Amino acid sequence: MGFDQSTETCYYRCPRCCLFPGMKSICGLVVLFLVVLPSAVAYDPLDPTGNITIKWDIVSWTADGYVAAVTMSNFQMYRSIVSPGWTLGWQWAKKEVIWSMVGAQTTEQGDCSKFKGNVPHCCMRKPVVVDLLPGVPYNQQFSNCCKAGVMSAWGQDPTSSVSAFQVSVGLAGTSNKTVKLPTNFTLLGPGPGYTCGPAKVVPSTVYLSPDRRRKTQALMTWNVTCTYSQFLASRNPSCCVSFSSFYNETITPCPKCACGCQNKNNCVMSDSKQAHRKGINTPRKDNSPLLQCTHHMCPIRVHWHVKLNYKDYWRVKIAITNFNYRMNYTQWTLVAQHPNLNSVTQVFSFDYKPLVPYEAINDTGMFYGMKFYNDLLMEAGPQGNVQSEVLLGKNKDTFTFKQGWAFPRKVYFNGDECLLPPPDTYPFLPNSAYINPIAISTMEVLVLMFMLIL
Ligand SMILES: *[C@@H]1O[C@H](CO)[C@@H](O)[C@H](O)[C@H]1NC(C)=O
Ligand SMILES: *[C@@H]1O[C@H](CO)[C@@H](O)[C@H](O)[C@H]1NC(C)=O
Ligand SMILES: *[C@@H]1O[C@H](CO)[C@@H](O)[C@H](O)[C@H]1NC(C)=O
Ligand SMILES: *[C@@H]1O[C@H](CO)[C@@H](O)[C@H](O)[C@H]1NC(C)=O
Ligand SMILES: *[C@@H]1O[C@H](CO)[C@@H](O)[C@H](O)[C@H]1NC(C)=O
Ligand SMILES: *[C@@H]1O[C@H](CO)[C@@H](O)[C@H](O)[C@H]1NC(C)=O
Ligand SMILES: *[C@@H]1O[C@H](CO)[C@@H](O)[C@H](O)[C@H]1NC(C)=O
Repeated sequence: MGFDQSTETCYYRCPRCCLFPGMKSICGLVVLFLVVLPSAVAYDPLDPTGNITIKWDIVSWTADGYVAAVTMSNFQMYRSIVSPGWTLGWQWAKKEVIWSMVGAQTTEQGDCSKFKGNVPHCCMRKPVVVDLLPGVPYNQQFSNCCKAGVMSAWGQDPTSSVSAFQVSVGLAGTSNKTVKLPTNFTLLGPGPGYTCGPAKVVPSTVYLSPDRRRKTQALMTWNVTCTYSQFLASRNPSCCVSFSSFYNETITPCPKCACGCQNKNNCVMSDSKQAHRKGINTPRKDNSPLLQCTHHMCPIRVHWHVKLNYKDYWRVKIAITNFNYRMNYTQWTLVAQHPNLNSVTQVFSFDYKPLVPYEAINDTGMFYGMKFYNDLLMEAGPQGNVQSEVLLGKNKDTFTFKQGWAFPRKVYFNGDECLLPPPDTYPFLPNSAYINPIAISTMEVLVLMFMLIL
């Protein structure tokens, strides 16, 4: 596949602009725009308000500071924080210390040598906090804590998209006039990618008593908002997309080195003995992958097969394959953008939810696994894939198999945009006026072989 690096980047950043080769120059402009305006980068057009909000509620003043309940809410529609979970950091404005924490802990205590008697939990100027693991003793728990830092996407499961802990701060202000807000918040989720804004004082949180007959309120509340940018997270995409159709035998593979080929030298051949060695599936602390050798070198491939054409409907088969031996994806999400997703009629064996970021446009949807059935995408190997079929109603005005229309405009896996193949390699509709479908069984066999080999 002869396309240069800049074109590849172009497809990655702006596949829609690149749908027609004539638009490459526009795409170049878009890339330039992204480079010139870094703040524009954190904006996700499919989830424009997506963010993680960290809220500090001061629940009481103490002799030398305050006790705060810190709540992190993942308001992103389809991006979760997977294992090994979040890491939250900040910088104290003065010489504050953390006397104690419930439901989380700092990774380091720091130098508390000047304290006699009671020793603080953490004396660092820049504390780094992680969640506790499930099953900690009851007296260390706090509501919504202790999930090893894992948070669901809001669109998938709002009830588990919250994480919280309590912190008791000393050597701090003891009234809403003297308290100084912490600064320079950082969030890893679990890797880089998030940028946090400054803390802002907001109207105090109001709590409703369990019987809902009395309201109480926090003494003071501030919020911090963090947004995600894939370009901060990694230079290369982490997934790619391949295509096939019933009307053309061509299977369009993922672009070569779609995810960068830097792991090429220590990848594992799928048929080698090494792939079955004991302990190969053990995750590393730094989360570095152990990939199956492929020409794309992506941990995840999404295959979109245009399977059947009926009078009023058409049918797509979607398969997600994991090529990482060291990773199970719990609660994975797949987002696709296609103009016909406004008439999804039935989704088999995945859950589906339309995402409607702009009220008038309904062309984006989120697929995710059914609980206890296929919400776990297993490590590379024979079990490392999940599949679904989607039945879509035809809209007579727009529907066509021409010019790659039947293929998605954008695909995201776990919130990261996947690299699509270049448009001139899409399976073309044969020129003859009527579609002469290749025997469906033949195509199925071809696709199956493709799934297993590449
Ligand atoms: C964060 O997300 C929430 C929920 O979607 C939204 O109401 C809020 O405006 C967002 N905040 C920012 C700063 O974008
Ligand atoms: C502060 O964060 C909470 C979520 O924890 C959110 O409900 C609230 O709307 C936020 N307030 C402002 C002013 O952004
Ligand atoms: C601080 O508390 C006073 C009342 O004690 C209140 O009037 C004021 O609005 C509060 N300020 C902030 C920033 O919460
Ligand atoms: C922390 O934030 C302040 C502004 O609030 C900035 O001047 C300073 O450089 C930041 N420090 C670090 C280490 O990022
Ligand atoms: C993935 O999950 C399965 C079943 O829970 C487990 O046996 C396997 O060790 C896990 N693999 C990794 C890489 O965590
Ligand atoms: C968007 O399309 C889905 C079908 O995929 C439909 O169920 C939903 O009602 C539509 N939403 C809007 C706001 O039109
Ligand atoms: C199938 O699509 C390819 C482009 O990917 C094209 O070169 C080929 O001519 C098409 N086959 C037929 C029979 O039209």
